[in-house]
Amino acid sequence: MLTPEKNRQLTEVGPGTPMGEVLRRHWHPIAGIDELDRNPIKTVRLMGEDLVLYKDLGGRYGLLDRHCAHRRADLGYGFVENEGIRCHYHGWQFNARGEGVELPYEDRADPTARLRAKVRTKAYEVRPLAGLLWAYMGPLPAPELPDWEPFHWRNGFVQAVFADIPCNWLQTQENSIDPVHFEWMHENWSRRLRGATGGYAPTHRQLAFEDFEHGLIYKRITEETSEQHPLWTIGRVCLWPNGFFLGDHFEWRVPVDDENTLSVTWSFIRVPRESEPYVQQSIPTWTSPIRDADTGRWITSHVINQDIVAWVGQGRIADRTRENLGASDRGIAMLRRQLFEDIEAVQAGRDPKGVLREPREALFLPSDSRDFFLHGLPLADYRRHPKWNRLLTHFIFHAGQPEWVQEAHAAAMGVRIQPMAALDL
Ligand code: FES
Ligand SMILES: [Fe+2]
Repeated sequence: MLTPEKNRQLTEVGPGTPMGEVLRRHWHPIAGIDELDRNPIKTVRLMGEDLVLYKDLGGRYGLLDRHCAHRRADLGYGFVENEGIRCHYHGWQFNARGEGVELPYEDRADPTARLRAKVRTKAYEVRPLAGLLWAYMGPLPAPELPDWEPFHWRNGFVQAVFADIPCNWLQTQENSIDPVHFEWMHENWSRRLRGATGGYAPTHRQLAFEDFEHGLIYKRITEETSEQHPLWTIGRVCLWPNGFFLGDHFEWRVPVDDENTLSVTWSFIRVPRESEPYVQQSIPTWTSPIRDADTGRWITSHVINQDIVAWVGQGRIADRTRENLGASDRGIAMLRRQLFEDIEAVQAGRDPKGVLREPREALFLPSDSRDFFLHGLPLADYRRHPKWNRLLTHFIFHAGQPEWVQEAHAAAMGVRIQPMAALDL
């Protein structure tokens, strides 16, 4: 349970707020590289700031104040130039550093171009990595953009999926350190959704939570698993401060504003050995629906859609003054404690947890599935495997995989990808 004041401190993300300042010390995935190749301008709202993301004709990315520095027209309707973006209203052009490149009439009226030299618009750094575009909105110099080892795994089909979630970021991230929800929200609920009326999944009998360099790790044992099981010996990673690494895919929860979050899933699916070597030319990114268009109810058929139902069900901003934490919530308490320490660190002028200052390639993260992702399986074994067979013929994480992605996915795997009505766990 938190006081209203402490709940506010952890959930507010705008500029100048304690948590907003912590989150601004980290890089966040905000769009797909392929998305900007399809359409070079995208408006985004991040941590309460309205911005425009673009790729100019010279191939450079920029992230600027959405409203033009002249008289605040919407640069989302601008056009990209060889360098930077130009406002549709009076043609002022800005580069990725937020400098005026050309102010057509003003430059003619004043050949010394004093206004052009002076004008500045808000600008943030953007970098491409692993099919995604990442933004840094904090004080300079920017820290290193983490380069995780799975970004270098080979022979896999990668796709990134966005979803717009109408709730605060923190309740979505608390799900990253919540082992017992697997049993209920995914296993038991999926069984009921598939029509089963009785019987429950094996229940959890032991949990452990640990701190490590890149976040927290949780470990779990159920009635059917032992101390030798990788979910206990290796565990899963609550990636700092707003990510989740489940051994086979990443999820990030990027704050849009206090009441909205951009969910970003990066999924690697190993191709069967018969389809190797497989080299992916381009990583597709797409946006998943979260509401059923006919009934208006939340979609419950896929793993992360189920998570989303829990997140939005907690309200726009979960009221932590009215919760009752138990033994399964030790990780939640650790996460909040660390976030308060991060706030103190930033206020004292130090880096919070998880900020990297030295370049490091292919950062290792614990994965209970590493063997499979590094070595793969022949098709027949893949089909027989109790866990991986699910990935072979379905995209289980998000509903609504578009046809063009499904086709690329199927071509990579060498098998047909089928739509999934309900998760089979
Ligand atoms: S408002 Fe953008 S150029 Fe005038
Ligand atoms: Fe989940």
